[in-house]
Formats: sequence, structure tokens, C-alpha cells
Amino acid sequence: MKLKKLVIASQNPHKIEEMQQILKPLGIQVLSTHDFPDLEEVEEDRETLQGNALKKARYVSAETGLPALSDDTGLEVDALDGAPGVFSARYAGEDASYKDNLEKLLSEMEGKTVRSAQFRTVVALVKGTEEFTFEGVCKGEILTSKKGEKGFGYDPVFRPQGYELTFAELDSSTKNKISHRGRAVQKFVEFLEK
Ligand code: IMP
Repeated sequence: MKLKKLVIASQNPHKIEEMQQILKPLGIQVLSTHDFPDLEEVEEDRETLQGNALKKARYVSAETGLPALSDDTGLEVDALDGAPGVFSARYAGEDASYKDNLEKLLSEMEGKTVRSAQFRTVVALVKGTEEFTFEGVCKGEILTSKKGEKGFGYDPVFRPQGYELTFAELDSSTKNKISHRGRAVQKFVEFLEK
């Protein structure tokens, strides 16, 4: 599929920057919701990552008339039966900050010996009536305390498999190569190149 322009359907500056970094080499003009100040924030009220990702991309594509790319991410922790999952953004309550959510996770994980977890991202592309989704997973484990200052969200307590450092200690280009979102966007890129 050929794309000249697309809008990233997210308000999150970290995600916009990560996605722009990955998509820039393709020669696509990458806009974001910040270029369309009248867009409203879309409530992520669906029961699945795919449902939320499609909801955001449909809205932004319909309002801007351009192809829209969105993502929704969840952290799935084995010892917590997959929680916080689709509720990762509001694990500690409706208006919870990254710090609140991270502290809740650390307290729920206190005393747990099984620390395995995975980030899962679903990226959705909506272009007119066409809809496509791409999934990326990154396996790792939850540490018992925070390490590192980079990144956002649960990054300081997530150590990806095969690495000694957390996502918050790795530089952004390494994170993008191995992360859930990086892998999902990579699948999207492969789809564009086909
Ligand atoms: P969202 O609904 O896709 O914005 O993501 C849900 C929550 O997952 C966010 O509020 C973050 O706390 C967390 N999250 C998403 N992506 C990442 C990431 O790459 N690293 C760490 N946390 C993330």
C-alpha cells in the first residue's frame, strides 16, 4: 500500500516521537493530533486493545480525511492473571499518573516469585473504509524496584528478555527495535513495503 501522509492518532508525546522515529525513513509525512487542535480525546472504553486502537484511528481518520494510525498497549503480568492488560493506563484509578500505576503494580507484585510479563501493542491503520491491525509483543520481567529515568509508563520496572537493563535504562533506538510498539509498527512497515 502507498501512503504519502498519515496522522498518528495519539495525544501521547512519547508515543508520537517513538512512532515518528520509526516511520521517518519511509518518506511518509507523519502528522499527529497536535496538528489538528480541534480533535477531541477518544475514550478508551473498549474491552480489547484492538477495539480501542480501531476506535481511535476511525475517529481521527473520519475527522481529518487522512489515513490514521493508532496504537493501544497493555502490560500483561502472569502472576496477576494478565492484569493490568487493557486497563494499564488506569490501573490505579481513572486519573492515575504513570507513577501511581507503577506503584500499584509494585505493591501488587510484592512477594511474588513469578515475575514474567509482556507488553502487547495493537497498531491500527484506518484508511477510508479499509482497516488493518498489527500486533507486537515484548516479553520480560517485572523488577522489585524502579531503575532508570528514560521512557515512560511502566518502563522503569520492565526488563526485556535477554537484557540486563530496564526499558528506562536502554536508549530509545534500542527500545524501539525490541519493544512491543516497535515490533507492531515494524509489521505495519513490512505491510507498506509489500
Ligand atoms: P495506552 O492505552 O496505549 O496509552 O497505554 C496504556 C498504558 O500502558 C500507558 O498509560 C502506559 O502506562 C503503559 N505503556 C504503554 N506503552 C508503554 C511503554 O512503551 N512502556 C511503558 N509503559 C507503557
